[in-house]
Amino acid sequence: MKIEVLSQKPEYFKEEWPKQYEIFHWFEFVCGIPHSLFMISTYKENGKPNACLHSWSSFSGDGGDFFAVMPGILRHSHTFKNIVRTKEFCINFLSRDYFESCRKTVEENSYENDEFALGGFTLEPSKTIQSPRIKESFLSLECRLEMEKDLSQKGIASLIIGKVQTIAIDENFSNNLDNRYGEDGFMFNIHQPKNPLNAEGKFSGIGVIDMIKKY
Ligand SMILES: Cc1cc2nc3c(=O)[nH]c(=O)nc-3n(C[C@H](O)[C@H](O)[C@H](O)COP(=O)(O)O)c2cc1C
Repeated sequence: MKIEVLSQKPEYFKEEWPKQYEIFHWFEFVCGIPHSLFMISTYKENGKPNACLHSWSSFSGDGGDFFAVMPGILRHSHTFKNIVRTKEFCINFLSRDYFESCRKTVEENSYENDEFALGGFTLEPSKTIQSPRIKESFLSLECRLEMEKDLSQKGIASLIIGKVQTIAIDENFSNNLDNRYGEDGFMFNIHQPKNPLNAEGKFSGIGVIDMIKKY
């Protein structure tokens, strides 16, 4: 039997923190779809480097171009403002060893902060954009802004699409392909999955890939 969940949020889905269901659609929690986890690096207007832990994205394209598609960037964030102002950003994938460093940039992220220093990250110049890369990242995507749109028209989050200009990949991950999909590879964000029938579900998680078959 399938449970069919319609878009009207039931009363028993109560906010656990202010504006939870304005910032995230409640379907996010009903679905619990894991997304790859990464840091977006940009420069603030005052020249300080900014690093933002992010997820909720997809990466694909066709023979023409390769795109980073991010439908949920908060419009009040430094990252959104930096991307719209500079029209570029860098996406940096890090292994789980760096998760706590990434978290530090969430805990302290005022306009005055150098978020590379806060997270203990090393700044590396990009090849084709001004935004900095994170040296510790095993895969970085240098992106130019292709499109920005407030999909829900609520002024809360925007879709940002970046066209990937250059990829920087650590030798250990280009030589040994297995390294990308295990303990030291891509991290995934599991964002508080909930039972649609009673809104129960408290945990969030960080995951890595357990490859079950090679073909
Ligand atoms: C796994 C994960 C956890 C996050 N946790 C928080 C959080 O606890 N608080 C928060 O405001 N943003 C959280 N975010 C969102 C952004 O990291 C946060 O909005 C970011 O620090 C904004 O930075 P900026 O203003 O420098 O762009 C989280 C994102 C992810 C992917």
